[in-house]
Amino acid sequence: IIVINTCSVRENANNRFFGNLGNLKKEKEKRDFIIAVCGCMMQQESVVKRIKEKYSFVDIIFGTHNIDSFSSLLDEREINGKRKDVLVEILPDTDVIAEDIPIKREHKYKAYVSIMKGCDNFCSYCIVPYTRGREKSRGSDNIIKEIEMLAGDGVKEVTLLGQNVNSYGKGLDENINFAKLLERVSDISGIERVRFMTSHPKDLTDDIIDVISDNEKIAKHIHLPVQSGSNRILKLMNRKYTREDYISLVEKIRSKIEGVSITTDIIVGFPSESEEDFLDTLDLYKKCRFESAFTFVYSKREGTKAANMEIGIDKEDIKDRFKRLIEIHDKIMFEENKKMEGREYIVLTEGKSKNNENMLSGRTSNFSLINFKGKSKAGDMVKVRVNESKTFHLYGEEV
Ligand code: 5AD
Ligand code: SF4
Repeated sequence: IIVINTCSVRENANNRFFGNLGNLKKEKEKRDFIIAVCGCMMQQESVVKRIKEKYSFVDIIFGTHNIDSFSSLLDEREINGKRKDVLVEILPDTDVIAEDIPIKREHKYKAYVSIMKGCDNFCSYCIVPYTRGREKSRGSDNIIKEIEMLAGDGVKEVTLLGQNVNSYGKGLDENINFAKLLERVSDISGIERVRFMTSHPKDLTDDIIDVISDNEKIAKHIHLPVQSGSNRILKLMNRKYTREDYISLVEKIRSKIEGVSITTDIIVGFPSESEEDFLDTLDLYKKCRFESAFTFVYSKREGTKAANMEIGIDKEDIKDRFKRLIEIHDKIMFEENKKMEGREYIVLTEGKSKNNENMLSGRTSNFSLINFKGKSKAGDMVKVRVNESKTFHLYGEEV
């Protein structure tokens, strides 16, 4: 059985998916196996239509709202054999979040836990509200139960996941919000570090900042996508904050949370972005001094509001802007890493370093990657002194 879980955020991912499917066709002609495809791309009618027409050797298609149906679809395929048409089950949206789906975890000491699904923000470039449906939070007792089980299995670090974790709790019939959830998770015995993403700047309230600042177990790292530094573009993107709002939020976070790192997402080449708009993004980047960033070239997604906007930017200009942004990113990241030299940090050891058998590797609370000499085992929290810094990682030794 081959299961392909798809992403739809940028066109590149779509293209790779169809490339992979094309390769599987030849394999499937040689021997029989089951191909199931799922994830965000399947929530788009045009994709399902294309698979049915051109890739009908696929056995099963299911969507983002019914992953719990996968086993029954698989049973049906195994009992009845390959049908001429593809077995499809897609729901447009759902009010329920399926609980207790069995999970095979990749890591022993860290785990990702989904606390909510969907998104109601409708940023004009983004397909997620269409493929993931309306925002829904999981009941806090279910989340706590899952993390208690993880802690029982030896997990030390959890990352709470959602498109917009700051608005966690909306629509639930209980007295809870994200700040309270963070407290409850950090109280679970055995859990030593709590991470979370993603935060939308418009919903990052003072009570959340205060909990991060005051609670030792909560990682000092906030992923806070800004997308653009130009007020005109932010408005077109429907982000609901200005560059001034964002910069003062960053100043507040840095003044309240000692040693915090702030990372971001930036889109280059949004429709009608001018050189002046882009310079505003660079200027904001330098003012905020992000520890790191994910940078993307704008990708048109059919069905979104921005898909109707004229791009009107030369491809070469977009490439050039992207390059200039990366240069600033690397420069600031290197300078910030340099400041960490000679200091000591608590690191969760994840195991041997990928590039050097004799070194261990792990991350600090503020998410810096560090390779270090020492005797600790995977899953240990140890104190490490930084001896040397590079652009993307640090070197050090256990103290
Ligand atoms: N084009 C480029 N980047 C996008 N993102 C979301 N949609 C698009 C798009 N259409 C980026 C945003 C978001 C991250 C997960 O992906 O920066 O924060
Ligand atoms: Fe997409 Fe994030 Fe905006 Fe939601 S908040 S629409 S997921 S970019």
